[in-house]
Amino acid sequence: MSHGENCLDYNSLYKIALTEKVIETGKLDQLIASYKKITESFNLITPPWRFTGSIDNQCVDFSQVKEWWRKAITIPKIKEKIDVYIGIPFCVGPERCTYCMYRSHVLADSSEIDGYLEILIPMMADMSEVLGDIDYNSLYVGGGTPNILTVEQMEYLFSEFLKWFKFKKNSQKTFENSPRIFDLEKLRLVKDYGFNRVSFGVQAFDQEVLKKVKRDYVAPEKMLEIIQLAKKLKFDQINVDLMLGLDGQTKESFMESFQQLIKLRPYSITVYVYRRGRGEFGSIENHEKFLDNYYNSLIYPTLKAANLMSEEYGYHNLCNNDNLEFQSFVSKEITFNKFNYNTRPNLTGGNSCLGFGPSSVSYITSPKMVVNYRTDPDITRFNCIDAIFKGKQETVKETMQIYILEMLYRNKQVDLEKFQQFFGIDLLEEFIFEITCLEYLDKIKVDSKYLYFDYKDAMDYGIYSKFFYDRRYLAIYENYLTQKGGE
Ligand SMILES: C[S@@+](CC[C@H](N)C(=O)[O-])C[C@H]1O[C@@H](n2cnc3c(N)ncnc32)[C@H](O)[C@@H]1O
Ligand code: SF4
Repeated sequence: MSHGENCLDYNSLYKIALTEKVIETGKLDQLIASYKKITESFNLITPPWRFTGSIDNQCVDFSQVKEWWRKAITIPKIKEKIDVYIGIPFCVGPERCTYCMYRSHVLADSSEIDGYLEILIPMMADMSEVLGDIDYNSLYVGGGTPNILTVEQMEYLFSEFLKWFKFKKNSQKTFENSPRIFDLEKLRLVKDYGFNRVSFGVQAFDQEVLKKVKRDYVAPEKMLEIIQLAKKLKFDQINVDLMLGLDGQTKESFMESFQQLIKLRPYSITVYVYRRGRGEFGSIENHEKFLDNYYNSLIYPTLKAANLMSEEYGYHNLCNNDNLEFQSFVSKEITFNKFNYNTRPNLTGGNSCLGFGPSSVSYITSPKMVVNYRTDPDITRFNCIDAIFKGKQETVKETMQIYILEMLYRNKQVDLEKFQQFFGIDLLEEFIFEITCLEYLDKIKVDSKYLYFDYKDAMDYGIYSKFFYDRRYLAIYENYLTQKGGE
């Protein structure tokens, strides 16, 4: 059935009945209150780029993972845009930083890394055979703390990996570092192996805050030296990470760190907004602190001040202000147009990611096939034999939900005809309940070509876009909050 003339009567009747029922029973208010609570409590604002991780994932082994990729590369578009991620899940101690949402553990002995590489490298070789001759889009070596590898371990990993994986000309290749264990010889090696972007985690220069989050201090003088050495080695991008929202951090203390850092003139500064668990339930318990009025009192005004200051120092913010995951301040001295690392899947853009290592995330994205899987975070289980991957191929319904959420977030509209072409399904019919509620709330308008979503800011998007989430996914958050409330 299409949304043509013949269906109008039925649809409008259904809509009236539906709206009246949801409103009269107070269900609509309840839904919105719940969406608001979930959005605010979990910083669940941007679209869930993948629903996986919480609902009906299956444990699968390496052969299933290879099978997904074998099928994926028969879809021509997928082959054109595959990013590669290599996870190094070890950190320098004595303890893990308390805020960290990544899975890694404090390295006890460097031989642990040898053991890891002995499993990782054959896995890469095996996968490259399945994937054949591909020019990959970009490479990201993250963690954890990749520069914890010794020079020999780095050489071994890079030389083996680059035998099988080739990258497009000018592709972005990032290597993440902790400045606390900076080593010039390692940085040179990274450069020699073709990496053109290095990133360093500073998080804050405020010693009180650092103490609270159990992280060692790196002085601005030391960071300056590192940035200058990296500039001498001619890295195209030199990025430093700061965090906003850490325990004990105020607008003033963040701005002081921001100013100290911007004066050192890295090519870019990424400001990560502290996230509690990023929707992954294992870690929510570790981030119990409820940040009262977090956005209005801290995040929005601080980002506003950072924007003003960055302009003063010759930087501009590449992210729109509504992005509450991270902001990217880039020096006007450099241009970024040749870089291409994708931080998120993009169903319409069709970028996929091949992740290696415990807790790495992989995805295959095209309207024809969406697969998400994550590797078990426990390094002691990491192997090529057992079912250490958790994920699944998304159903058509889930793919449609992800598509709508992405389009509304990026463009504030969905093209009805394109949707029909991709899925062979009428969006207005398939999502009649969601659209009816949102029309009633004045958040959505529909004409013959588009569905328009009128959200005023990121939080508004976060709340009202929940209508298009998978109910089972939201139920996990609802249950968590109910349990907490009941304790
Ligand atoms: C994978 S970490 C690697 C950084 C490196 N190990 C270090 O600590 O220097 C990348 C970045 O994620 C950010 N990050 C970590 N936990 C976060 C959280 N809970 N919310 C937001 N950003 C976070 C930090 O800014 C960190 O520099
Ligand atoms: S922020 Fe870096 S060093 Fe700290 S625990 Fe996370 S990955 Fe490890």
